[in-house]
Amino acid sequence: MDAIMVVLRSLHIGFGIFLVGNGLFATLILEPRLRALGPAVQGPVMGSVMPVMTRIQVLCFTIVIATGGILMYLLRGNFLQRGSNWGWAILAGLVITLVSAVISFGMVTPLGIRMMKLGASIKGRPPTPDEAQRMAGMAGRVRTLTRVLVALSVAIVVCMAGARYL
Ligand code: HEM
Repeated sequence: MDAIMVVLRSLHIGFGIFLVGNGLFATLILEPRLRALGPAVQGPVMGSVMPVMTRIQVLCFTIVIATGGILMYLLRGNFLQRGSNWGWAILAGLVITLVSAVISFGMVTPLGIRMMKLGASIKGRPPTPDEAQRMAGMAGRVRTLTRVLVALSVAIVVCMAGARYL
């Protein structure tokens, strides 16, 4: 049992760090630096990084949610009946994780794909004012959503790390 818990916790925490770390790096370091370098650099780099990053984030979300669910069951499977604070904190972390997955794959990824398509259609010529405006609008929405994701990541880590002390 102990060995199973070590494996589950290692996978859960390891992929959780990877998931949250990727998000923080992309939002707080990569995106602002690329924006400062201009669309000629930002477009191709984002186009190359995004598909890989999306696949890695899907894998991380899946492993974190699956291992988290098993841990939850093995540690205190009937917490809802007993209404423990530990259980509520983990449940809050689970709900926030699911909301983050919806924002990531339901909103940020489609916007990124639309931006890449628009970027590809204006390759080799200056964008029209309408295209530039649409691109800026989508980039602004992506920035806002990724900042929301950073805030949600902090909330998840607080729920997970704090649960056992509640
Ligand atoms: C980005 C998402 C997540 C991150 C970064 C994360 C991170 C962590 C960390 C660092 C711990 C260790 C806490 C400790 O030992 O005190 C932990 C424990 C745990 N997590 Fe998560 N987690 C995430 C999502 C989830 C989800 C979705 C679930 C439920 C389905 C979950 C269920 C659990 C459980 C049951 C524990 C064990 C707590 C204990 O040992 O008292 N986690 N998580």
